[in-house]
Amino acid sequence: MRSLDEYACEKLAGLERAGLRRSPVVTARDGIWAERDGRRLLSFSCNDYLNLSGHPAVIKAAIEATQRYGVGAGASRLVTGNHPLYPELEARLARLKGTEAACVFGSGYLANTGIIPALVGADDLILIDELSHACMHAGAKLSGADVLRYRHADAAHAEALLAEHRASYARALIATDGVFSMDGDLAPLQALSLLAQRFDAWLLADDAHGFGVVGDGRGSTFADGPAEVPLQMGTLSKAVGGYGGYLCASGPVIDLMRTRARTFIYSTGLPPGTVAGAIAAIDLIEREPDYAAAPLRKARMFARALNLPEAQSAIVPVIVGKSETALAASRELADEGFLVVAIRPPTVPAGTARLRFAFTAQHPDSEIERLADAVRRRVLERAA
Ligand SMILES: Cc1ncc(COP(=O)(O)O)c(C=O)c1O
Repeated sequence: MRSLDEYACEKLAGLERAGLRRSPVVTARDGIWAERDGRRLLSFSCNDYLNLSGHPAVIKAAIEATQRYGVGAGASRLVTGNHPLYPELEARLARLKGTEAACVFGSGYLANTGIIPALVGADDLILIDELSHACMHAGAKLSGADVLRYRHADAAHAEALLAEHRASYARALIATDGVFSMDGDLAPLQALSLLAQRFDAWLLADDAHGFGVVGDGRGSTFADGPAEVPLQMGTLSKAVGGYGGYLCASGPVIDLMRTRARTFIYSTGLPPGTVAGAIAAIDLIEREPDYAAAPLRKARMFARALNLPEAQSAIVPVIVGKSETALAASRELADEGFLVVAIRPPTVPAGTARLRFAFTAQHPDSEIERLADAVRRRVLERAA
């Protein structure tokens, strides 16, 4: 057993030296505010883009469902965990995304690690954007398919790889984030969908950061005019404000997921309150497209103030390079009353540590101006 602790300590010491050791900080969220280490900071690090995690209608729905059905699902969905709110949530998701059907998973991570291996395997090819989320890469690895990474958002590179390799495989899957989680840019879904049609490949887009925010709240597939994306995956943990993942697709594909996706079959259903909260949140997203447009408007305002490229989503990165620089910049902004967590490798590629700003509907414009000013003085001018 000593060797186990020795291994852990040595590993941690190496990560510490590289500025890569991590530990969760206790954070009490209250709307746009976050309290940590005894300080109350205005948070620009929450993915609760529409602030729905604290919306009274969402909380009420979650409480009522919890009182009616209990705190937990009690079993996996194929046993007894498929409580009566699930069909309603899945129908709502399918309607919003314009697909025949939808399947809800325990989380976005569980969705991608279930969906991909249920569709492709050893004889198949996966083309994946190099900056796709870790859970897409994990799903690709789990599938046993050959995986080729194409350069970030580079449909021409994906095309060249398909032209060279597609014929050697039975099936092919193109996997990409719709909105990239650490860069905030949109994937070229129109171009990828044309490639998918031309090379008989299936396109999977992860809309974790697009749903509720871009495309009138319908997500990245609708941001640039509708794109043909037969596999629309996403999470209920960002703009929807709760927890859970989903796939929206055709009836047969969803039936296949329910029968073959291991993370669906072998994991407990979501708590009933979480499902009810998601339904209430989707109600709000559908009813209030102007509200859903607010985070993008605020991200654009911030980017414009700092002469950064135009924001395409609620996420704006300011890349500073070294992990220590990002950590120091985060501390500087905390001194001004802002919480902006430093993002370091391996979440982002080596040498691209950054501050990642996430804008939400309820951030006051005046605070965004104050934030931009602080970033200019304390981060950008010091780096110049
Ligand atoms: C692009 C992307 N996909 C999937 C996930 C995982 O979703 P979840 O948090 O619901 O597991 C995340 C973030 O957490 C994400 O940023």
